[in-house]
Amino acid sequence: MSSVRELDEYFEKLKTDFPIFSERPDLVYLDNAATTQKPLAVIEKLKNFYTETNANVHRAVYRLAEESTMLYEDARKTVADFVGGKATEVVFTKGTTESLNMLAYSLGLSGKYKSFVGPLFEHHSNFVPWQRIAHITGLKFYPVKIHGGELSLEDVEAVVKSCEKPFIFSMTGLTNSLGYRPPFEAIVELVHSADGLFVLDGAQLIPHEAFDFKASGVDFLAFSGHKILGPTGIGVLVGKKELLEQMNPFQYGGEMIDRVGEQETTFAPVPHKFEAGTPNVAGAVGLAEALRYVKNAGFEKITQHIENLTKNAIEKLTDIPGLILYCQKKCHGIISFSHENIHPHDLAELLSRLSGVAVRSGHHCSQQQLKALGVSSLCRASFYLYNTHSDIDKLFYGIKDALRWFS
Ligand code: ALA
Repeated sequence: MSSVRELDEYFEKLKTDFPIFSERPDLVYLDNAATTQKPLAVIEKLKNFYTETNANVHRAVYRLAEESTMLYEDARKTVADFVGGKATEVVFTKGTTESLNMLAYSLGLSGKYKSFVGPLFEHHSNFVPWQRIAHITGLKFYPVKIHGGELSLEDVEAVVKSCEKPFIFSMTGLTNSLGYRPPFEAIVELVHSADGLFVLDGAQLIPHEAFDFKASGVDFLAFSGHKILGPTGIGVLVGKKELLEQMNPFQYGGEMIDRVGEQETTFAPVPHKFEAGTPNVAGAVGLAEALRYVKNAGFEKITQHIENLTKNAIEKLTDIPGLILYCQKKCHGIISFSHENIHPHDLAELLSRLSGVAVRSGHHCSQQQLKALGVSSLCRASFYLYNTHSDIDKLFYGIKDALRWFS
């Protein structure tokens, strides 16, 4: 285990791999839960793909197309290895939102499930698709109440016990609004023993800790590339093969078919039946490079460093009079806060203007979570591997300067 200082120095060196920080030396980027910056290796990979290998995949036999297909399928293997799944279980999507919509539509319209259960602290992308599909299909919809930003296992048990079976349970591994890590491991078993499917929204979790799809027992995992140093517009749905095989495609079109008849069509094997149209080949290749970067940096180090940053930030921010921190028992890499005298949008704007500190403000696409806290808007600072303790100091002094300016 390295010391706090050793880890800080290690990641300060890695920060030089990210060109945006030399282009904008004054930037203190603390909006990583929204999207992460990209290392040069990922940017170069995208450039090289377009300059050297660009062709459509799975459609042609000329050499360039074969090389492009190979890169795309290698990227799938890299993703599978990274999350402890098999390549046949990895579907490329546009991002977490598309992965979850794919599940909501495909599972919801199958007629196999009678109800949906999920906590109220979910990001809208893991709430609204299920709510809509419930309206469309008549599936019963059971939001699980939350206490502040936390979930109680007793509440989950009660809803799981009483809901119509079979059912779908979908929840996040780490809330994007408060950085709360619910005890999802305990819920997976509960859901399975009650004839349910477990879907894990890994948008925030996957960039923050090592995860093993097979060992976790979850049925589906969704995450985005851009939150883990990869390009925008690429994401992943990992699903148990036998479940993916039973599911109908979400979108129909080129390259997802087996045979097309006048009246009926049969579909390609998984995962390709879920990838209609030309996929984001460059995005997949860039994502694979990002995952290699994260793996080389060392997940244990990343997790520890972000824990250290979070602890330091909580200690410092607690000392600012009038500042309210919305940490539950523990925040993981995400801290939401507000001030009793200043609106979160004004505070975020002043932080940017006076100190170059970028934090998100608003409802964080989680209106039910904010409602449970009795607020409509918060500021949120979120950390990733290139942040250092000096960024935390800049956040601390930035808030103080903003409050001075405002008063
Ligand atoms: N889901 C992203 C966030 O939490 C956009 O900011």
